[in-house]
Amino acid sequence: MFELDRRVFLRSALGSAAATSVWLPLFGADEANDSKKDSEFDPDTLFLTWQRDPTTTMTVQWVGKDDVLNERGVSFVAHGEQVWRSVVPRKRPYPRSKKRHAFRAELTGLVPGTEYRFQIGKSSPTYRFRTMPAKLTDSFQFVSGGDCGINHNAIATNKLAAKQDPMFALICGDLGYDDGHDAGISLAFLKNYRKHMIDSGGRLIPLVVGIGNHEVRGGYNQPRTSGPFFFALHDGLYSERSYATLDFGDYLSLVILDTGHVEPIEGEQTAWLDKTLAERTERPHLIVANHVPAYPSHREYDAENIRGTGAGNRKHWAPLFQKHNVDLVLEHHDHTFKRSHPMLDGVINKNGIIYLGDGSWGMLRPPIPLEKRPYLAAASMDYHLTLHRLEADRQIHTAIAKDGRVVDTCTTQKRPHRAIGRGAPS
Ligand SMILES: [Fe+2]
Ligand SMILES: [Fe+2]
Repeated sequence: MFELDRRVFLRSALGSAAATSVWLPLFGADEANDSKKDSEFDPDTLFLTWQRDPTTTMTVQWVGKDDVLNERGVSFVAHGEQVWRSVVPRKRPYPRSKKRHAFRAELTGLVPGTEYRFQIGKSSPTYRFRTMPAKLTDSFQFVSGGDCGINHNAIATNKLAAKQDPMFALICGDLGYDDGHDAGISLAFLKNYRKHMIDSGGRLIPLVVGIGNHEVRGGYNQPRTSGPFFFALHDGLYSERSYATLDFGDYLSLVILDTGHVEPIEGEQTAWLDKTLAERTERPHLIVANHVPAYPSHREYDAENIRGTGAGNRKHWAPLFQKHNVDLVLEHHDHTFKRSHPMLDGVINKNGIIYLGDGSWGMLRPPIPLEKRPYLAAASMDYHLTLHRLEADRQIHTAIAKDGRVVDTCTTQKRPHRAIGRGAPS
């Protein structure tokens, strides 16, 4: 517990809705500085993520033993400020892992576009992060990918990703390949991320994830309890559902879907998607990410009854992407680099939507030759990440191979309206 007698409560301008009961006592600056002399608590699973608007919040998480150090708060201060504030982390047992707990502290009421320092307890190093800007007045970049694992290829791509100085990484499915039963693998993924995903300014790079088949015991159509590590770590964003949206101010929305691992594609999720996209049609940047691709580069395309072929995405989701003017779809699972042609109603159309993938952060397979998959504009057998540069009215996507080679570049842009086919609104 906090040593209340040594600290003062902050009743600040932050004290509105953002300041829930976790706004608590703070360290004095001197106390925080003193603690840096005794850096003994530095969790190797520490990572940053978000549960809501990244312009004003940040969530700090780690997995560790339930000891006194972890009982202490997360203290933070904006660059140039002296007054530290603290949040009490919430903890819960980490599945299938004796004595370990998952700790989570959400920092709210932050100033957009600002660098912060934070510390866990009094004996951790001082870490740094930056909040997302309030407006997209300057361009910024993030990286995306999927299908990492914990091997040396995944580590090499982590290092390459960090070198791009992204504002965050979006990894959508097949993170460590814990398959819902291997706690060690789930933690190894975090340890790799912690070790390598630091930008050139020394800031931790926040992680946004989606669910894939290798987060879930059985892969598809499983109960939420079959993905114990994914939900223990990520149920801040996925508190009730296995799909979510993350709104960055009024300029970017990420809509992250579950391709049938816990929630079916058809039905409730599709109804949610329709409503969610309808509310965001006018966003300058509206990007969907999911694991199994609608336009696969390695697997079967025409097998309606084979799970993981994308048939459900094409039938239920693609018309909604068109109807609500989605700018780009990110997909994975096939372990290649691929870029589709712009697709509208299942055929190539310059007003269509590009589907980028296909998940080879640390896993690799050969793509089907382009002549056999006419919807593919480009494909190759490359470990890769994609760097997305967002400007006021367009997005530039650069696929970079593990060795630093640029594999592909394309640009997407908000269209007047895409719904000219059967997905057209009435
Ligand atoms: Fe995979
Ligand atoms: Fe997968």
